[in-house]
Amino acid sequence: MCLGHYAGLPVFVQGGLPNEQVQVEITKITSKYRLGFVKNLLGNSSKKRIESDCSHFGECGGCQFRQIEYSHELELKESALQRAFPGNLVEVLYGSAKEYRNSVKWNSDGYRLGFFKSNSNDLIPIDKCQNLPQSLQPKELLKNSKLIKTKLNQKEWKFRWNGMEIFPYQKVSQNMTIGDKIFYLPKNSFWQSNRFLLELWLEKVGESLNDCKSLSEFFCGVGTIGLGVPQGFDKYLGIEGDGNMIEAAKKNAYNMNKNHYEFEQMDLYSKSLGLDWKKKLLCDGMVLNPPRNGLSSWIIETVGFARPKILVYSSCHLATLKRDWEKIKKFGYTITKLILFDFFPRTAHFEILLVAVR
Ligand SMILES: C[S@@+](CC[C@H](N)C(=O)[O-])C[C@H]1O[C@@H](n2cnc3c(N)ncnc32)[C@H](O)[C@@H]1O
Repeated sequence: MCLGHYAGLPVFVQGGLPNEQVQVEITKITSKYRLGFVKNLLGNSSKKRIESDCSHFGECGGCQFRQIEYSHELELKESALQRAFPGNLVEVLYGSAKEYRNSVKWNSDGYRLGFFKSNSNDLIPIDKCQNLPQSLQPKELLKNSKLIKTKLNQKEWKFRWNGMEIFPYQKVSQNMTIGDKIFYLPKNSFWQSNRFLLELWLEKVGESLNDCKSLSEFFCGVGTIGLGVPQGFDKYLGIEGDGNMIEAAKKNAYNMNKNHYEFEQMDLYSKSLGLDWKKKLLCDGMVLNPPRNGLSSWIIETVGFARPKILVYSSCHLATLKRDWEKIKKFGYTITKLILFDFFPRTAHFEILLVAVR
């Protein structure tokens, strides 16, 4: 995102590169700022610029980085992480930058599938999205009358692919695999979307927890991390807000012979925990994997109470991770590992794995 100014207001522009002069199409106007994307280049383009491989790029809100080489995108992401955590070594791990997603949320106008224009609800019909495997492309889905009725009578169509079958996952449950582990997912549940990096991510989380016999996990989903890491724990407690996912996590634990693992449903943003709960959460290792909002003040308080030896915080949002870390480090933690997992190539997003010890 670049910053320009027009008529006394800031204009945030997607698709520009340093030192370029560009013509911008404005997509959103507020009293405080405008948003837009690069419509045309005026004058010389940056040496880093390449021809985008997608005809929808710029207009479509999905990708922000198709105008540069993938290697340069990784450099930009790494430097953003490095600036946020100066003095720490950043490791960058990535997989294929194409066809990497295992799920998609298509929008529909009743006739076609597409994505919304950036910052608007205007549909851009899409013929092919480079981030999706063949099976999740509109043509393929529309061919399959079992998945989509001939009339697209829904505004949103969510599909997930497990390598063999496609599921309309807002309506049906399904199984997903990581290595030789099978996870049951209830309908409409969260699952990490990068199909190439999930196993490596869990290996790295597992390595960090090698010295732990007990583990507490906040935002545990269907048990992806607690059950997905290679090792087991003598004592485990996972907390998650979605009751169906908690039931699924219990079922997954049972199927993986981890009957002693405990899972509890709780709204981790609105509720603060009493002393009994905090005591229950005492552990050697703690995993935090929140949504973009990051941690509530009481979760941070609980970290300070439990003071686990090892803390693993995996986040898809650099700003909230940084905000939370500034508070957590006051409990005496130092960072031992900072890994950028590029879960979302060609977009401005990425996953960060931060490991800290005290
Ligand atoms: C980034 S996902 C991580 C899930 C899991 N660790 C995984 O890797 O599949 C965040 C999780 O937070 C859960 N969540 C969202 N809001 C919540 C809330 N208010 N209280 C508790 N959990 C919540 C979501 O259901 C989701 O499972």
